[in-house]
Amino acid sequence: PMKIRIAQNAGFCYGVRRAIKIADEALEKNKSIYSLGPIIHNPQVVSEYEKKGLKVVESIDEAKNAILIRSHGIPPQIYKLINKKKLECIDATCPFVKEAQDYAKQLYEEGYFVVIIGDKNHPEVQAHIAYANYQAQVINSKEEAKNIQAQKIGVVSQTTQSVDNFVSIVSELVKKAKEIRIFNTICDATEKRQESAKELAQISDIMIVIGGKNSANTRKLFEICLNFCKKVYYIETKEELKKEWFYNVKNVGITAGASTPSWLIDDVIQAIESIDNDIH
Ligand code: F3S
Repeated sequence: PMKIRIAQNAGFCYGVRRAIKIADEALEKNKSIYSLGPIIHNPQVVSEYEKKGLKVVESIDEAKNAILIRSHGIPPQIYKLINKKKLECIDATCPFVKEAQDYAKQLYEEGYFVVIIGDKNHPEVQAHIAYANYQAQVINSKEEAKNIQAQKIGVVSQTTQSVDNFVSIVSELVKKAKEIRIFNTICDATEKRQESAKELAQISDIMIVIGGKNSANTRKLFEICLNFCKKVYYIETKEELKKEWFYNVKNVGITAGASTPSWLIDDVIQAIESIDNDIH
């Protein structure tokens, strides 16, 4: 039989797992909760939670009774609206995101020109901007850093940025200011997931990477595995597995992107086990 191993740190990070747990606990007590935006970017998970009573809304106006804040966090103004509407606030903001928000606020209050390294359209970054009283500049490349001119620069990062990009931008910013204060708010969940995938790919005959086809972090995992293993397949669900991939295979490695729930990973493992029974 084949040996099937799952990479450490595959799938949900700490903050998403925590948010799911908070949602589960809240749904046990209350069968009707509103989620401000989808809890994670996985359609299967969103529809499963919809059945349990978690309804996705785009604005506070559409919510009644109780509102769930997902791991990305929200701007301070939205908390005010929630209070004003007397909604119960179930706050699943990741503690690491919260920390970055606090630093953004602190830097603004201390008179720094706040630079946020990240994707300006991402909801997490949108909240950071709000914490810096909408006075922040969001940049994502060294090129953009070249345009910044300020005496005192304060830097925070979107939690999912890569360390390399962060370092390259910061090295440019250092040239621009008299004083610079940098908070490294990058969370290492992504890097650890990638590191573990790489380790497992090196000792596997085949790697199965599970995640949404439009998930950027899953694609990245897939590319990393390709560098260390000859046979790598990128699938969304167990239905895509093919028997012939596993002929003459001894060691199977599995990893999964940040928005892949553990039950989906378990499904794939079971399907591979039954292929194994079939062909070996
Ligand atoms: Fe996840 Fe929180 Fe890090 S949501 S990626 S553990 S910042």
